[in-house]
Amino acid sequence: MSSAEAKEERTDEIEAQTGGAARAKRLRVDDGSRDENQDKIDYTKAGLYWDNVDATIDGVLGGFGYLTDVDLKDSHAFFERQPALADRTPRPGTLACDCGAGIGRVAKGLLLDYCEKVDIVEQCKKYTDASWKYVGKEHIREVLTLGLQDFKPRPDTYDLIWVQWVIGHLPDEALVAFLGRCVASLKPGGLIGLKENNCKPEQKTVLDDEDSSITRSDAEFRRLFAQAGLTVSHEALQTGFPQGMFAIRMYWLAPAEPEPVASEGEEGK
Ligand SMILES: C[S@@+](CC[C@H](N)C(=O)[O-])C[C@H]1O[C@@H](n2cnc3c(N)ncnc32)[C@H](O)[C@@H]1O
Repeated sequence: MSSAEAKEERTDEIEAQTGGAARAKRLRVDDGSRDENQDKIDYTKAGLYWDNVDATIDGVLGGFGYLTDVDLKDSHAFFERQPALADRTPRPGTLACDCGAGIGRVAKGLLLDYCEKVDIVEQCKKYTDASWKYVGKEHIREVLTLGLQDFKPRPDTYDLIWVQWVIGHLPDEALVAFLGRCVASLKPGGLIGLKENNCKPEQKTVLDDEDSSITRSDAEFRRLFAQAGLTVSHEALQTGFPQGMFAIRMYWLAPAEPEPVASEGEEGK
């Protein structure tokens, strides 16, 4: 297959997942800024990597389990900058989604402080099995053992979607399509947030060949959010992590304002 055909096939795939909206984004997805590390992401290799990691906090945090409290503390502060979450009260009937949940560390330590129930979405069966006990089955609506690239949530489902330390497992096109589906699955007033490592701006992306993921720069994330029709409404940097690690950024995302369309007669002014 020629690279032009491969590109066309990839675009068709996105269109199948996101409908006509992807057609409008086609030029922007293929705007030449695509980073070659994308092509090294391999879902099977990533799956095998995580299958061999313990279903524990220390396992899902790559040996940095002792940082979980510091992580959750800053995430709570970030959540409470949202007026709807400021009183840290799980309102009856509210539902959160923990995307790339591992064993449900974030569901249990963060999301359930704001929503009554959670859905767990995670590709590793060993982790989803463990999540029932770790999170507590009374707090879970549904556990889905599948990759985010295959996650097709129903519209009007979630009050809160949180994506943490997982999105580097998706190449750009899959990430943009996934975010588009997430937005469509929010209830009115629903929120979508992401917490991820950032590499330095000049690096654009850094490949981790062991777990088959990439770390993106802040600018790369913003470029992709824009492609998904999203803008960053709030952001914050994680504090208190050891020197020498990647910067960690939290983002609240909101639908971007539509660009003003020039009315007839105004074009070219
Ligand atoms: C670093 S761990 C983070 C887990 C969790 N978000 C947390 O913060 O505790 C990365 C997780 O992403 C999962 N993962 C990897 N690729 C994925 C994919 N394509 N879709 C969904 N989950 C994936 C792994 O199995 C692993 O549980």
